[in-house]
This record gives sequence, C-alpha cells and structure tokens, in this order.
Amino acid sequence: MRLHVADHPLVAHKLTVLRDVKTSSATFRQLVDELVTLLAYEATREVRVEPRDIVTPVAPTTGTHLAEPRPMVVPILRAGLGMLEGMARLLPTAEVGFLGLQRDEETLQAITYANRLPDDLSGRQCYVLDPMLATGGTLIASIDYLFERGATDVTCICLLAAPEGIATVERHVGDRADVSIVVAAVDERLNEKGYIVPGLGDAGDRLYGVV
Ligand code: URA
Repeated sequence: MRLHVADHPLVAHKLTVLRDVKTSSATFRQLVDELVTLLAYEATREVRVEPRDIVTPVAPTTGTHLAEPRPMVVPILRAGLGMLEGMARLLPTAEVGFLGLQRDEETLQAITYANRLPDDLSGRQCYVLDPMLATGGTLIASIDYLFERGATDVTCICLLAAPEGIATVERHVGDRADVSIVVAAVDERLNEKGYIVPGLGDAGDRLYGVV
C-alpha cells in the first residue's frame, strides 16, 4: 500500500479552517471541495492515459488522453458525497458509483446499506472518496468490494487519517502496489468513540447537519 500525505501550505491552511468548530456548514462544504481538488491532483498522478493524434491550428501532433475504460469515482455515502464535486472538477469524464457504508457505533464495523456500482469493474481504476480514515473498517470494506468486482487499482482520497486506521488498512492489504491512500494530514490518534483527535468532528454532520 502506498500512502501520500499532502505537504502543502495551502492544504494546511484550509484544513485548519475546516477543523475549527466555529466554521459554518457552508464554509465547511466549500473548503472540502477545494481540498479535494488539491488532493485529486496528487491522487490521479497514475491515471491511465493513451496517445491521441490531434491537429492544432499550427501543426499535427500527438498528445495525451485519458484511456478507456473511464476512471470510476466512488463516494462513500454520506460524507463522501461532499467530496464529489471537487473530484469531478478534475476528472469530469469519470463515471460515478455510490457505496453506502455506515459504522456500527457499538462494534465500529462497516455495514453496507446501499450500492450503486456496475457488477463488472474489470480494468477500472477506482477512486474512493471518504473524508475520515478512522478505524479503517469502511475503507477495507470498499477496497475489498471494488477488487471483488475486478477493479485494477484503488486509490482512496481522505481528508484526515488516524495512524490506527492507516495501520489497519495496511495490515489488510499488505504490500500490494495497487492500493494507495492520499490524505491531507495524519492526526494523533483515535479516541474511545472512534473519532479522530484532534480531527474535525463528524464530517457528515458538519457537511449536512445532524440527522
Ligand atoms: N468519522 C467522522 O466523521 N469523524 C471522525 O473523527 C471519525 C469518523
């Protein structure tokens, strides 16, 4: 598994405003959008491309084009939905599939409650959007699900991660090179309720309000 932690002053600045308990939902959503676009630039570094012949107003040339099959973006409902626009801005031709995974707050295990993805993901590069890598349960369930359907590689884009969650995912996937995690920051730890510390609270609630 490969882990990339964004190391950029703009990411650090936006993340600090995002964490602040005084930041409104509207500003929070805007910042998530901006942060995802910055992370997506790094996360798509190995997106598959192919040569494409074109003619400029001056001369014929061979350029680069995203290869088929199109990349698949998979926001994890509900909080991952807040990351979709930022990702789609950079990869507008990607297909979007949805996975609804929820933490059982007692066991902290991931439960699948919705799935809108093609059965066959053969040859597809998948980009999972989930803002908080906490225990790692949701990411492991998503990664397994996508590989079972034939995905060739899975890149997870998260805003924050806990060291415990990264270690759990790493133990599960081992040293395979087709799993990557791109994250804006790795925080200190998980608390006894499975929240990232210092973190930013419940990402879904901060995006959409408490339900
Ligand atoms: N999910 C969240 O939204 N926040 C955390 O801190 C952990 C999991």
